[in-house]
Amino acid sequence: MQKHLLLSLFLLLSESASAQMVGTMQELSAERQAVATHIVLEGKALSTAGNSDFRRLRDCCPRLETIDLRRSLCREIPSNALFACHRLKALTLSDSVRLIGPRACYACDGLTELVLPPTLEEVGDEAFAACRRLRLLIVQGTPHLGDLSFAGLDSLREIRLSSPTPPPAEATAFWGLRGKGVKLSVPRGSEKAYRTAPGWSLLFEKKVAAQPAALPNLIPVPTSVLPQEGCLNLKELGGVEANPELANEADHALRILSERTNFCPKRGKARLKLQLDTTLNSRTDEAYRLEVTPSGILITGVSPRAVFWGLMTLSQLLETPDAEARCSTLPALIVEDEPRTALRELMVDPARIFIPLKELKPFVVEMARFKFNALHLHLVDDQAWRMEIKTYPLLTELGSHRVGMDDMPLEISGYYTQEEMRDFVAFAARHHVEVIPEIEMPGHEIAAIHCYPQLTCGARKVPIRLTCGVSNELLCPSEEFVYEFLGNVFRELSEVFPSRYVHLGGDEAGNPPLNCWTHCEKCDSLRRKLGITATDGSENWRLQKHLFDRVIDTLRTRHGKTPMFWYETDFREIPEGCVTFAWRHGLTAAAIRAAQENGRKIMLCPGEHCYLDYPAAPGDMPEVNWGMPVTSLEQTYRLDPAWGFGEDFEKHNLMGVAGTLWSECISSPERLYYMAYPRAMALAEAGWSIPANRSWESFRERVRHQMRQHRLRRF
Ligand code: ACM
Ligand code: ZN
Repeated sequence: MQKHLLLSLFLLLSESASAQMVGTMQELSAERQAVATHIVLEGKALSTAGNSDFRRLRDCCPRLETIDLRRSLCREIPSNALFACHRLKALTLSDSVRLIGPRACYACDGLTELVLPPTLEEVGDEAFAACRRLRLLIVQGTPHLGDLSFAGLDSLREIRLSSPTPPPAEATAFWGLRGKGVKLSVPRGSEKAYRTAPGWSLLFEKKVAAQPAALPNLIPVPTSVLPQEGCLNLKELGGVEANPELANEADHALRILSERTNFCPKRGKARLKLQLDTTLNSRTDEAYRLEVTPSGILITGVSPRAVFWGLMTLSQLLETPDAEARCSTLPALIVEDEPRTALRELMVDPARIFIPLKELKPFVVEMARFKFNALHLHLVDDQAWRMEIKTYPLLTELGSHRVGMDDMPLEISGYYTQEEMRDFVAFAARHHVEVIPEIEMPGHEIAAIHCYPQLTCGARKVPIRLTCGVSNELLCPSEEFVYEFLGNVFRELSEVFPSRYVHLGGDEAGNPPLNCWTHCEKCDSLRRKLGITATDGSENWRLQKHLFDRVIDTLRTRHGKTPMFWYETDFREIPEGCVTFAWRHGLTAAAIRAAQENGRKIMLCPGEHCYLDYPAAPGDMPEVNWGMPVTSLEQTYRLDPAWGFGEDFEKHNLMGVAGTLWSECISSPERLYYMAYPRAMALAEAGWSIPANRSWESFRERVRHQMRQHRLRRF
């Protein structure tokens, strides 16, 4: 405390441009928020909703290191207030604070000390979870400590408490600190009370005992699960047997067994056997069968990927309520399972806010748990170009840096080298997740145009975009350099991404952006050359078709790729061998009809259900956005991939489901996970499980268990 007093005094006396003392954040200009390193708020009532004082502290002050609220009248630190503020080194709370909301300081991993004032009544779930550098926690009162409120505090050494009565705590308040030797300094005579008190007792335990498997809470729900007599004692399990073509899956099997069970590699007689059986199913190569008997486990699959899905099911079966506990026994059962749809993907957007591959690797592992089989990378947009293209070095030299995303003055830099990406693609392949690259055309290409102005009509120079939204500048379909450029980009991309697919974007390049082709001389002569005489507004759409046809032809004939694009109703025709994405609110039926009429495949990604970057509840992150509708977990779950179009559509046109994580507002890896889960679990089930097995009520129970496991894995 004394240290903080001195610091405040220093701040008061110094005229440092970065130390700011104000009533509320509204009084601080955007420029001063951008450079502020120390902020003292004195306001009588700090705001907690919408673009609140806390949202500004979190999102608009990228250099902020200390927050002092002592002089404020602040009763509540709202949920997500300072979520993943990695740069925050000190937070001094007001003596009037009563409530700290869920995840208020989640992953504030610069904090080393924390004092909870005597007035505090409630510390919400995960409020200080993953504050990995926190060494000292001082609790002056008796607040209730919520579920996982201090979970995953790897560096915590001491908790000092003033109350002889242990503050009421959930059993998991200090999850992860069992056996870590945290010193508890408590008033004399109250040691015993703390030793036995819920939540606090965990700090005195050495090890958690092995537990039997939890009830099957499988997501996505399999086609059939048949319980059998008896169970397998996992101590009897001695190893994994598989032919060489399943070596990768055997490695995963060993990893899962050693992480989740107490199996005895040398002594146990029972085996986990992995086998291929191509006769198991003819409709899909992802079908598997998993059998647990008292004498072993057998996973049979049509392909290595199918066997891997069997292992993902086994891994979920081995979960115990306390994820630290090894699983001791597994009930005998038979699972027979196959996916309803062929492609189940999540899309991430490192263009708006860069996401390092080291953060995306665990994201892929998490996707695979729920049997997603594709990660779609939105590699370029108006705000940045993120993929190394050796022919055009400026794309990453110039196009991968900027400061600012809407009102967040973040410095956002980074790109993927081809070598790093190859390593990532191979990593994802080992988890049977295909990485699909997306290069936008003809819109959402400002970063490339900024680096190579000859890509646009009249070689106009344009700055990289710093806000969300749509730019009125497109690639010029009449400029030969555009085809040379895209040809080289897709050639290099094909050498890095073995995926069968390439996504070409194609969204939001209608009017007004298309007008930029109207007054271009080259576009005018191309329209004449192609015999485009229409003047009803369709003339530029026809030019767009010409651009797409040329690129699609190159991709199909030269690189053997299946092009994909975001469907716009003005496309009318969908070229042969292409896959479209239904994404626009209210236009899914039109997109499906177009796919049917053209005899093409379609991915279901309707904004109403699949835009996971939208808030999941009113007031949830992102609190400030461009008017995103709420997409609740239930709404995502209720996605019908067949959209009521029946069996014929499902058999001939439906390819799969996709969820988007556009990252205009996803400013940290933690926020990526927060937006994705649990809704990605709902989407995974919509894409995999048959309608007869799906039920919102059942999912709601299972997702509770799966979210707990997901949270525990993140610490
Ligand atoms: C999109 O959301 N612009 C596909
Ligand atoms: Zn032009």
